[in-house]
Amino acid sequence: GRGREYRVACTIGQWDSDEPVTRQELLKGIAGAHGLYCMLTDKIDEEILQAAGPNLKIISTLSVGFDHLSLDEIKKRGIRVGYTPDVLTAATAELTVALLLATSRRLMEAVEEVKNGGWSAWKPLWLCGFGLQESTVGIVGLGRIGLAIAERLKPFGVKRFLYTGRQPRPEPAAKVQAEYVPLNTLASQSDFIILSCSFTPDTQGMCNKDFFAKMKKTAILINSSRGAVVNQEDLYQALTTGQIAAAGMDVTVPEPLPTNHPLLSLKNCVVLPHIGSATYATRNAMSVLAANNLLAGLKGEPMPSELKM
Ligand code: GLV
Ligand code: GLV
Repeated sequence: GRGREYRVACTIGQWDSDEPVTRQELLKGIAGAHGLYCMLTDKIDEEILQAAGPNLKIISTLSVGFDHLSLDEIKKRGIRVGYTPDVLTAATAELTVALLLATSRRLMEAVEEVKNGGWSAWKPLWLCGFGLQESTVGIVGLGRIGLAIAERLKPFGVKRFLYTGRQPRPEPAAKVQAEYVPLNTLASQSDFIILSCSFTPDTQGMCNKDFFAKMKKTAILINSSRGAVVNQEDLYQALTTGQIAAAGMDVTVPEPLPTNHPLLSLKNCVVLPHIGSATYATRNAMSVLAANNLLAGLKGEPMPSELKM
């Protein structure tokens, strides 16, 4: 679309592959650049900023998350940051609902049974799971995506929404009649817990042993935020000892998760490869927004989506 316009506006050094750029290539390629268009796989820290030099004034990331950016270092240098909220909200909420249903209704296990001959007959209790009707859903982080998830789950007959976060958010909460509760209350009263918070020092390792101990044995944890919000060793314990029923993770530590990781051996754990925003339309909208953020920033204009720092 606007490719020509971008090329006229600036000289582009481009990593021309669907694979993430290597650290070495990035360090080399960024020297002297005025702007950087990056992905969540690129850790933009002091070393990268040093390699860029003083020209660098704009960073545009193809993501809504920005935990891969060392904001303190970036701010210190007066660099502005663009990101891609809103355009990925619907796709990410939709994937989160898909992951929740896949986990709660045991879809991966069920498909496997059909393929491996485990389907011997229709049986009353075989492959039973947990339904959303009359359930309590707890949302950690009622931001744009958290609200969109709640709005999509409401028609399934959810009885009660709980949420927690840094502070109450009366406006989105009113749209789904969600109650603001402390994390402990959310942990102990929810049938489904959905993590849609950002990754910060506050949320790092938030879902740990203590958290799982408070959850119902029949409860299900879904994570579409960042892997490090969950302590994966503690999650493994909780899943194997029956402390919680199941977990669905679209994000892990590390990414990719090694194929021999213990969590992948569990039937009650569904792991997806960080595909929350992966629809064609959404990824297209994200890349256009990220390009427009970069261009506006380079021209010294307000960005369509600039991160407030
Ligand atoms: C995806 O995780 C994003 O931050 O856009
Ligand atoms: C299920 O197929 C039913 O008929 O109850």
